[in-house]
Amino acid sequence: MNFLSLIESKREGKILAPEQIQEFIREFTAGKIPDYQMAALLMAIYFRGLNTAETTALTLAMRDSGDVLKFPKDKRPLVDKHSTGGIGDKVSLPLAPLLACLGFRVPMISGRGLGITGGTLDKLDSIPGFKTLLPTAQIIAQVQKVGCVICGQTDKMVPADKKIYALRDASGTVPSIPLIVASILSKKLAENLNALILDVKFGSAAFMQTKADARKLAKAMVALGNQCGTNTRAILTDMNTPLGRAAGNWLEVKESVECLEKKGPNDLLELVLDSAAHLLVQTKKSKSIAAARKLAEDCLRSGEPRAKWDEMIVAQGADLKAFNKKFAQNSTAKVVVELKSEKSGCVSKCDARIIGEVIRDLGGGRLTKDLQINYDVGVDQIAKLGERVEKSGMLCRIHAADFVQAKAAIIRLKTAFEISAKRPAKIPLVVEIISH
Ligand code: URA
Repeated sequence: MNFLSLIESKREGKILAPEQIQEFIREFTAGKIPDYQMAALLMAIYFRGLNTAETTALTLAMRDSGDVLKFPKDKRPLVDKHSTGGIGDKVSLPLAPLLACLGFRVPMISGRGLGITGGTLDKLDSIPGFKTLLPTAQIIAQVQKVGCVICGQTDKMVPADKKIYALRDASGTVPSIPLIVASILSKKLAENLNALILDVKFGSAAFMQTKADARKLAKAMVALGNQCGTNTRAILTDMNTPLGRAAGNWLEVKESVECLEKKGPNDLLELVLDSAAHLLVQTKKSKSIAAARKLAEDCLRSGEPRAKWDEMIVAQGADLKAFNKKFAQNSTAKVVVELKSEKSGCVSKCDARIIGEVIRDLGGGRLTKDLQINYDVGVDQIAKLGERVEKSGMLCRIHAADFVQAKAAIIRLKTAFEISAKRPAKIPLVVEIISH
């Protein structure tokens, strides 16, 4: 193919035909287009954009660049959730077993964290023996038998996205809405879903800083998902402050299991139940969100999703005895220190970005893709917005590998919190629902 003329067309703002898009994705995946030319096209797309038809063609061509999961016929709908990521966002972990117990099949293909946002696979890697990389046949078999799997993309799934994402990362072309839409949806559509709920976050620690940008991304993904035959909805949620009271890989697994035991924080529980409720309505298993919420709550209360969690992790190789022993520990990090409040009042700010940066610097996140992380470090018992604290009362606990790192974290974390005399106005967690 004449790839140079295709780059020039997009540079001049022309519209690419679906066949041209399919061909360049095929050729790039096969190694027939050099990275420098692909990077030039990505930059042209970054500036000129893609219209809906082009974005659809790109998404489908990327989906079809590798294996698409094929499940046997079954009356249980196939569903999943995707979050654009944030601090303490562990919703996927309790949600997958809850959905399985609500009569869904959940092929939850997840990713690793980069920068400050955590990745579901890194969290699961903190479970002794747990395997996140499974062959396609095992993914399908586990979904059919257990009802849910949370694992990584195989090498054969959506290889075009892997190659293109690496180039976007190195060429300053990540923040392009059509490229983000195609990247996220190509992977989700490769799961062959009936319904998908997207949690698009905005705020200091989110990919999209403003609500307006988050809405733009959500609308584009919802429109395209629905057009491609997957019932797709999005919720816009606040990520100026962390979700739950714990952030850091193992600490988040622990809080997720506490959520399944109905001992977790309210905001996490709310988002898990809301996500399940939307999927129940999207698949017509419930007539209204209120009825769906009740169904999800009753299911959680039954204890079945907690048992399903054990079944899921054992199916993926976890050593349940070692997991239970770790779960019973107060802390698994070498050093645990408390950040104390310097005055009495109400928590009026708890900046998720600063907390995320502290965890990354403690070794809980990675700056480059191949960096080894420390699963046990993080922050927990975080005081939530609006809560009252007394002078010398605890704002959070820091789990660190040594005292030097713990001390550095304390200095930084002091700037994450603000304490005011007046209780701040309550901020809703879900601010908008986008269904078309
Ligand atoms: N997550 C993805 O998978 N792709 C993007 O482009 C951005 C976030």
